[in-house]
Formats: sequence, C-alpha cells, structure tokens
Amino acid sequence: MSAPDHIISDQIIIFDTTLRDGEQSPGCSMNLEEKLRMAHLLDDMGVDVIEAGFPIASRGDFEAVEAISKAVKNATIAGLCRAVKRDIEASFEAIKCAPKRRIHTFISTSPLHMKYKLQMSPEAVLAAIADSVEFARQFTDDVEWSAEDGSRTEDDFLARAVEIAIKSGATTINIPDTVGYAMPADYAAKFTMLRNRVPNIDRAILSVHCHNDLGLAVANSLAGVAAGARQIECTVNGIGERAGNAALEEVVMAMRTRPDAMPFKNHIKTEMITKISRTLSSITGFVVQPNKAIVGANAFAHESGIHQDGMLKNAQTYEIMTPESVGLHRSSLVLGKHSGRHAFKTRLQDLGYGLSEEEIEDAFQRFKDLADKKKTIYDEDIIALVEDETGRDKDNIKFLSLLVQAGTRGPQIATIEMDVDGTRQTAMCEGNGPVDAIFKAIRMIIPHEEACLQLYQVHAVTGGTDAQAEVSVKIEEHEKQVVGQGTDADTLVASAKAYIHALNKLMDKRQRTAPNATDSTTESMASVEPSLTAQERVGP
Ligand code: KIV
Ligand code: ZN
Repeated sequence: MSAPDHIISDQIIIFDTTLRDGEQSPGCSMNLEEKLRMAHLLDDMGVDVIEAGFPIASRGDFEAVEAISKAVKNATIAGLCRAVKRDIEASFEAIKCAPKRRIHTFISTSPLHMKYKLQMSPEAVLAAIADSVEFARQFTDDVEWSAEDGSRTEDDFLARAVEIAIKSGATTINIPDTVGYAMPADYAAKFTMLRNRVPNIDRAILSVHCHNDLGLAVANSLAGVAAGARQIECTVNGIGERAGNAALEEVVMAMRTRPDAMPFKNHIKTEMITKISRTLSSITGFVVQPNKAIVGANAFAHESGIHQDGMLKNAQTYEIMTPESVGLHRSSLVLGKHSGRHAFKTRLQDLGYGLSEEEIEDAFQRFKDLADKKKTIYDEDIIALVEDETGRDKDNIKFLSLLVQAGTRGPQIATIEMDVDGTRQTAMCEGNGPVDAIFKAIRMIIPHEEACLQLYQVHAVTGGTDAQAEVSVKIEEHEKQVVGQGTDADTLVASAKAYIHALNKLMDKRQRTAPNATDSTTESMASVEPSLTAQERVGP
C-alpha cells in the first residue's frame, strides 16, 4: 500500500476548540459578544477549523455557533454533536450559514465508557457510529467522527469503529485522549496501529485531541503527528476540562522552533499568539501562570545575572525563539503624557488593534487620563485600556464615579454613582473594608440576592506602585458563573468596574435563560449528556 496523500503531506490542520472544549470548563464561560471576538481573532490568526460550540447544549451555545458561522470568513466552523439525530440536526442548523462547515459527531468507544456511561453494547455503539455519520453526511460532506476515550479503547474495537466511521462517510477521524491518560509512545502507537490495520484509512485525515491531566497533552499531540496524524485539536492558553487541552501556542511554536524534529507546516500567524492569549485571559479572568510556556509573563524574562550576561553577548545563548515571533515586543517603554494622537494610533496598530476612528478617539482620551496619573505607559497598559472597554458600549449598567473612605480611623464607606438604563443612581454603604463597601453599594442599586461572589482577584498590569490594577470578579447565580474585568490606576475603581461588568453579564445571562427565552435546545449539557433513550440514538 503506498502512503496516502494526507500522510505524506506536511501540512497540519489546526483545529481550535477554545470556544467548545475550552469554554465548557469551569470559569471559562464567555458570552456571545466575547465568543465572536475570539472567533475573529482565531480566524485572523489562521486557524483552519474553529469548533464554535455544542449547539444542542443550550440556547446560548446554539446562538453563538450560529453567529460565528455568519461572521467568520475563512476558517471552517465545526459544531459538536453526540450520535443523536436531534444533536446532529441542531449542529447543522447552527453552522449552515458558514461558508465552510463541519459536523463533528462523537461517541465513546472504551469498554469503561460503553458499559457505564452509555450503557450500550459494543455492537450497538458500532451501529450508532454508522448511523450517525451517515446521517451527518446528508447535511455536509465534511464530517468528523471522534472516538471518545479513544486512547483507552482496545485496538481491535477501535480499528473496527474507525473503519465503519470512514465507510459511513467520515472525512476526519479523531482519537481523543479524553482523560489525559496516554503516554506519548502509547498514543503514537494507536495511530500507527490504525494506519496499519484499517483498510480504508487513507480516505480520512487522522486527528489528535489531548487533555493535560498528566501534563502530557502537547507531547502526546506531537507524538500523534509524528505517527501520521495531520490535525491537531487544541485551545488557546491550553484552557479546557480539568487540567485543560493541548495549548495551541505550544504545539505551534514547537513545530516552528524545531522543524528538524517536526518538519510540518501550518497556517498560524504566530505573531498573533500573545494578543489572542491576553484577550482570552482578559475575557475569562483566567490568568495564565507566570511560567507558562510561550505566553506566561516570565516566558521571555531573563532574571539571573549569568543568563542576562549570556543574552547580551548573544540572545541565542538562552533564547530558543524570539519574543517577536509570538508578538511580544521588547520595547517596553512606549508612550507618555506628551505623546500625541498619531503616536498612540500607530502603537495601537502595532499591537494588532484595528479600531474605528471613534474607538481610537475614545481610547486616546482614556490614555490621556491615564498618562496624567502614570508617568510611563507600557504596551501592557495600552492593551488593558483597550480591552477594558471593548464590547461594553451596550452595557445597561455603567460605572460613573466612586468615593471611598478607607483606613484605620473610621468605618469604610463607599459612595457609588452608576448609570442604570440611562438613569443616574447613587448609593452609599458601609462595609467590612473598602471593597466590601463598594460591592454592597452596587448591590443596593442592583439587588441580586441569589448571586454570590466566587472570586475577587487583583493583578498589576505592569511593575511599579503607579501600575494599573486589573481586577477580575466572578459571580455565581443558580450554578451559572460570569466573570467581570475592570482596569484602572485606582484598585478600588477597577474593583467597582469589574463587579459592574460581571453584573452586566449576569443580566445578559438571565435574559438568555429566562423561561420565555427557552425552547427544546435549552437543556444544559449536563442534563442531556449521560442519558440517551433508545429512540434518541441515531439508528436502531
Ligand atoms: O475529550 C474528548 O473526548 C472530547 C470529544 C468530545 C472530542 O472533547
Ligand atoms: Zn476534549
């Protein structure tokens, strides 16, 4: 048998699942507008396939997949679905406007999952694979089939399942390491086994999808590619269920930095990596650990004297890739109080922001306000300043002003002024500390008794005591979480802005899940995931 084209091809398809596997993990939920922002960035960055969501899971998911399908110009849009007719129909309904679309259907194949999760016999699973893939093919000729828990599936059964999926019309075969259990050599062996044993394997692209429970997601993904896979499923910053998924930036930079070991091509513009990573962190409040590969704050920092000395003599002594290759610019000090509109606009463009004239003017005013308080304005300050306002123009609740009395000599009291649906409202409240006083005052204006604060986190955008504070606030109501962000040179103002941002998102979420806003697709994924009735399964 001669080697099939896709195996000898050195092109790797980058399939991003930040908006599906990433978004479904705790603390990473995004609203429609945020998902759209991310989808545009992923598309601009050159991702080949964007898995935009799980349309049957909720109305919010469906609407987001549909909106992304209408908005994205280049990437293929994938919608996830179980081996269930109504899932597949919902998936197609959501992606049908996309210029390029893919139905991604999955079912578990490991003995453990079939017995306990699906409570189906292996023969029934094989029948469901055939029926679901054939059914999906009626809607599109781009169908991906995934063997959930594939890495723990017995070889004989996996080979039979893959053969059936391809015979039924699947064009991509994904073998997930769903629980992050695989070792690189075992995972690679699964692909080699499939290539050797499945007679029609040359009719499909093989794909890796690895979770990071043992910290091996990237290593396993690359091992799978070395063994013949030509699609990598990954997420920005490695977000995802439990320990996350393989990080897009890591797999891509591994291939770019080590072409000798990984001689493969992809379409990713790596210079956009830092921007997309920061945007995701800012949207979700999920800050990456400082020593995270590629996008951590310390990834390109050289602190020790010996390293700094080596770097000055020749950067390659301690640097295997340049910060510029991931869009990180060495010029830290950029602008100040006397910088003009033109310099600011140019800097925004260099940082990858294509803003309208009105948005630039707005950002420039905020830049000037900041420059009055802070002597030196760094790239990070500009990014925080722009991200802080993006998508907030439609917010119903707006921050206006804050006065706080704090310290040791008296009660801590906050007086806040907010614009609620166009009406100016003020509240004054005493609290157990200034932040508590602020949040209580906000609560007086917008009562939300059933919601509770899950997380309050402050991080300095740059060094120095005049650094801007970036505050993240997570609120939970009826098991639904929202994250708000606020940035300001004053930590208390940033806290108020973050809380108000979270409240806007909570209101939005309430509206989307209100009883009259529901239909048959509004069940939560948790409630539909484990139990399928016999009639719901595709086929017998
Ligand atoms: O991890 C997994 O198995 C998945 C599949 C649904 C593709 O995310
Ligand atoms: Zn997964």
